[in-house]
Amino acid sequence: MKNKKLFLKAFLKNPRRVGALNQTSNFVAKEIINSIDFEKARCLVELGAGMGNITKKIVRKMHPECILFCFEIDPDLAEQIAKNIQDPRVKIISDSAENMGKYLHQSKIKKVDYIISTVPLTTLPYRKMKEILKSSFQYLRSGGKYIQVQYSLLGRRHLRMLFPKMGINFVFLNFPPAFVYVCVKI
Ligand SMILES: C[S@@+](CC[C@H](N)C(=O)[O-])C[C@H]1O[C@@H](n2cnc3c(N)ncnc32)[C@H](O)[C@@H]1O
Repeated sequence: MKNKKLFLKAFLKNPRRVGALNQTSNFVAKEIINSIDFEKARCLVELGAGMGNITKKIVRKMHPECILFCFEIDPDLAEQIAKNIQDPRVKIISDSAENMGKYLHQSKIKKVDYIISTVPLTTLPYRKMKEILKSSFQYLRSGGKYIQVQYSLLGRRHLRMLFPKMGINFVFLNFPPAFVYVCVKI
């Protein structure tokens, strides 16, 4: 209940940045999980971790040697997720997604296997959206996947420009119904 209230508070404070009244459903999380090869993945990045409902499911599946960087721009949500998820493989970072390079460099990581994003790309300022996509493309290894949850098809053009190899799955059982874009870096 506390988590729900905190998420709603974050939404009311900045609706365009949070992008949804509710946290993503387990059905969306399952679609994301099914797109990740946990046997092989050693470095994952999550953008817009919120209260960590997707994060928790990722952590359960992660290889013992895999690390996960979670970016959450809202300091209250970042503080809560850090309390919710205490695992030495997980780094919670309260900063904006486009700054991922700084933290990856600090950990001597050049490329990552997957980027999972629920940041509401199309309601963010245009420049911020472009910067997030640019950094994601830069740090994703070739053959790696960028997985983006959206509530419309509006951002499709920007994703396709960077990732011509892209699949879109529709998840009706979410409020609002969601599109999960699975983009491969070629
Ligand atoms: C739609 S919510 C999803 C939260 C959670 N991952 C879930 O699935 O329920 C989007 C989240 O992205 C965060 N966010 C928005 N812009 C961001 C940015 N530039 N960098 C990092 N996080 C951001 C918001 O604060 C919010 O928690």
